[in-house]
Amino acid sequence: MNAQSPAKPLSALKAGPLVGRVRVPGDKSISHRALIIGALATGTTRIKGLLEAEDVINTARAVEALGASAEKQGDFWIVKGRGVGGLRTPDGPLDFGNSGTGTRLMMGVVAGHPITVKMTGDASLSRRPMRRVLGPLVGMGLEIMEPGKEMLPLTLRGTSELMPIVYRLPVPSAQVKSAVLIAGLHAAGKTTVIEREPTRDHTERMLRHFGAIVTSEAKGDETHITVTGDAELVGRDITVPGDPSSAAFLAAAALIVPGSDITIEGVLINPTRTGLYVTLQEMGGDVSFENVREEGGEPVADIRVRASRLKGVHVPPERAPSMIDEYPVLAAISAFAEGQTRMDGLAELKVKESDRLQATAAGLVANGARANVDGDTLTVEGGNGMKGGGIVATHLDHRIAMAFLTAGLASDTPITVDDATMIATSFPEFRPIMETLGARYVEVAR
Ligand code: S3P
Repeated sequence: MNAQSPAKPLSALKAGPLVGRVRVPGDKSISHRALIIGALATGTTRIKGLLEAEDVINTARAVEALGASAEKQGDFWIVKGRGVGGLRTPDGPLDFGNSGTGTRLMMGVVAGHPITVKMTGDASLSRRPMRRVLGPLVGMGLEIMEPGKEMLPLTLRGTSELMPIVYRLPVPSAQVKSAVLIAGLHAAGKTTVIEREPTRDHTERMLRHFGAIVTSEAKGDETHITVTGDAELVGRDITVPGDPSSAAFLAAAALIVPGSDITIEGVLINPTRTGLYVTLQEMGGDVSFENVREEGGEPVADIRVRASRLKGVHVPPERAPSMIDEYPVLAAISAFAEGQTRMDGLAELKVKESDRLQATAAGLVANGARANVDGDTLTVEGGNGMKGGGIVATHLDHRIAMAFLTAGLASDTPITVDDATMIATSFPEFRPIMETLGARYVEVAR
């Protein structure tokens, strides 16, 4: 998102039943990885269903600036890669906009090339912690040209002599895991990332698909993921399944708008991503996975959701990595459940596109719901639905905007978000798809 774009407030109005069969755009995590890993492969990668949202387009521009090509031809995005270690110094800074994933995965790429790259981002991204990625990458040989600096803008210098490492993740982060594994492709020897809580495993799956040697081994309560360096990747075909984090808003809306019955086709149901759907079922939500199949090495289903009476639940901390992006919408619809919903272990929510813990609680309170943050725990007292009428501060965060544009479809009076433009970073079709199902939105003056 262009920092100069004027904010556009949007209100959600109470809707009649949401009904229909729809698809959501491609998964954001897999789309970033397809472009980046395609750029590191030799030959051509053909990607079907790439998410054409601002975050991913910024990654496409970055791989082009580094000397690969990435362009749309008909239904496919065609990436012509340069091989592991074959990228070049870009002519200018790489602007990652709002995207932590694009930035952090690309740091792993830069680490393995003898090139100097300046990385920039918008106001939200420039506040996010990069030390978690830079720490292990510096241990492998990456140089930070502004010593001591840990946030964008940053200038980094990689090396063709990267050292392999064994790295135990201090925070459950697929982005950090992926950056180290991608760097490990370039290193001389085996690089191992150790994780306690399983995080999304798309990088491992995709690297194997492109011919890298990647093993995952359970040891006690940890998993050791090892990539063999000096890797050779070969361009492949990829089909990107629908994004479960985007489908989450549709599913949540259908549960709280009385009489709704929707089906979201072709959604990724990789178990490292389905924590929200498990939680909704525990809340009594009528959510089912139909026509389960495999597409492009990932499990996919059509998700059917019917309006349901929800009850509050306790969401355990170990589930957080599998639904980390879905807490704002879960919290927003918890106001419509009977009783309390308690979500534990949410420290990572504080370092997303905004401090989502505070932003979510504030949005709920602004709309007459009872929510409380205590340390890393968020509780929402349900029972009375949501009064609405409030204005939600989105803090440049697409998921805060969409969460409250979901809750507003069932609140007594409209809910307004102060800016809906950021939705384009992950789900540009959010509004038209929701409207196809029967949602109602109206632009409001600032
Ligand atoms: C992502 C991982 C998650 C998630 C983000 C996408 C990825 O971040 O919040 O939207 O594609 O690897 P962390 O791994 O830092 O928790």
